[in-house]
Amino acid sequence: MQTAEAHFVEAHGARIPALGLGTWELSKRVCSRAVEQAIRLGYRHIDTAQIYANERDVGEGIRNSHIRRDQIFVTTKVWTTHFAPNDLLRSAKESLVKLRLSEVDLLLLHWPNPHVPLTETLGALAQARALGLTRHIGVSNFTVALINEAVSACPAPLVCNQVEYHPFLDQQKVLAACAAHGMALVAYSPIARGNAKSSEILTRIGAAHGKSAAQVCLRWLIQQNVAAIPRSSRLERLAQNIEVFDFELSDAEMNEIFALGSPKGRLTTTATAPAWD
Ligand SMILES: NC(=O)c1ccc[n+]([C@@H]2O[C@H](COP(=O)([O-])OP(=O)(O)OC[C@H]3O[C@@H](n4cnc5c(N)ncnc54)[C@H](OP(=O)(O)O)[C@@H]3O)[C@@H](O)[C@H]2O)c1
Repeated sequence: MQTAEAHFVEAHGARIPALGLGTWELSKRVCSRAVEQAIRLGYRHIDTAQIYANERDVGEGIRNSHIRRDQIFVTTKVWTTHFAPNDLLRSAKESLVKLRLSEVDLLLLHWPNPHVPLTETLGALAQARALGLTRHIGVSNFTVALINEAVSACPAPLVCNQVEYHPFLDQQKVLAACAAHGMALVAYSPIARGNAKSSEILTRIGAAHGKSAAQVCLRWLIQQNVAAIPRSSRLERLAQNIEVFDFELSDAEMNEIFALGSPKGRLTTTATAPAWD
């Protein structure tokens, strides 16, 4: 079936819809309306985070869509200041109150925090799962070394690592580490925060398929069995970004896009970020 509803990335029993909606920087009515419209268009995966301060709006958008709860995959993330075990559980419960959900589908550690022992944080994350606050758990912005450390320290399977990934950023090492541990990679900033359209190569490849450069980015990710969570607040772009299941990039096109990647293409980093691979 050539629709978003039929495409999943599977990992440790989780079925993550391959195309989701990012909600960073969306808030209030703009956020709830984008979530509602996206679900009506066929999106079945919504990505939020405690630090985005929009979980109430995301929850409202989900309710307004009248989608059945079991038809939608909701991810939220715990911010790094809540990594002490009791804080993490309290934070996860607060997210559920704001979302007005009894559980999320996926709960992530938003960034590594070297100031709290990873074993303690992962123990609490696994406890959140055991308590039924979330169906699955995972990490975000983890490097290869941190993925290896986390997998051996975590009492429950980590289903994904959510990291920046788009044609301008080479993530082969992280992809290989995720694959080695049976984890999914979820790509954030999948259209390079809207910069895809500045690439002559992506635009040319898209034109050959009647698609935009942004759609080429998303298709390139999905053909790697990577999940992508583009964000838009505009109805026409929400519609465009999900129309990526009706064409296929050739091996030559995939490789031409891989050649655009470099470690210098990273858009998101912080003073406390780990040493990137
Ligand atoms: N785990 C983490 O640390 C982390 C970090 C960053 C992001 N994320 C998640 O990943 C999501 C996506 O990443 P992102 O928001 O950084 O960037 P993105 O999805 O790559 O790009 C979003 C930008 O592109 C524009 N856009 C959307 N569709 C477009 C299209 N078809 N053509 C041209 N421009 C388009 C949007 O503007 P309009 O709204 O005007 O369309 C917006 O400015 C976030 O919203 C968030 O949920 C997670």
